[in-house]
Amino acid sequence: MSHKQDSIKGTKGDVSSHDKTKSWFYSDIVKDHFFNPKNFLLNEVDESQYNGIGKVGSPACGDELRVWLKVDKETEKIQEFKWKTFGCGSAIASTSMASVMITENDGMTLTEARKLKPQLIMERLGGLPQRKFHCSVLCDKALRDAINDYYRRTEQFDKVVVEASRIIDPVSKVTDHDIEEAVLEGATTLEKVQQKTKVGTGNPSCLPAVEELIRFYKEKYFG
Ligand code: FES
Repeated sequence: MSHKQDSIKGTKGDVSSHDKTKSWFYSDIVKDHFFNPKNFLLNEVDESQYNGIGKVGSPACGDELRVWLKVDKETEKIQEFKWKTFGCGSAIASTSMASVMITENDGMTLTEARKLKPQLIMERLGGLPQRKFHCSVLCDKALRDAINDYYRRTEQFDKVVVEASRIIDPVSKVTDHDIEEAVLEGATTLEKVQQKTKVGTGNPSCLPAVEELIRFYKEKYFG
């Protein structure tokens, strides 16, 4: 099954494009996870119950997601994955589905959870509208933050993975994260990424690196 959904013309779907020319419907599975989110924390959180805590904000929309993990110290399997978000329906549905996938069948190990690709979550949701992909990767990022937190707490510093951003174009000051966000927003060609970020406009020598990053992020998020 594809993780992408076909769009329809006009604004009759559940979510429409910025220019209102096309729209998409949410799948029934997405709606179910949105209306009945699994592992969602409603009340105050007693953080002493958890040993891996992560948080991420989306530069694309300003929304935030927090996750709390309970990791078994012997097996390093994730026994509980709880979360809260101020994000939209797509963020809620994809985090709910991720929390199920990570804790089902006795729980994934931290190593397995790190390998869970956002497109697998989207596939199990029956696809998501392209405009909403950036929402679905919020949980991936918050999960990685929480796993790092667990490794720091247990002093396994060699297992902490930090994704520092790298300047790709020193003239326009565009970083690899800016390109990642542009791709998640649907800019999947060099031209579209340039429209969004202005990368390479005063410094064309960086364009091969930009093209390579576009390929990398397209593969990472859209398979
Ligand atoms: S629009 Fe912000 S998480 Fe979806």
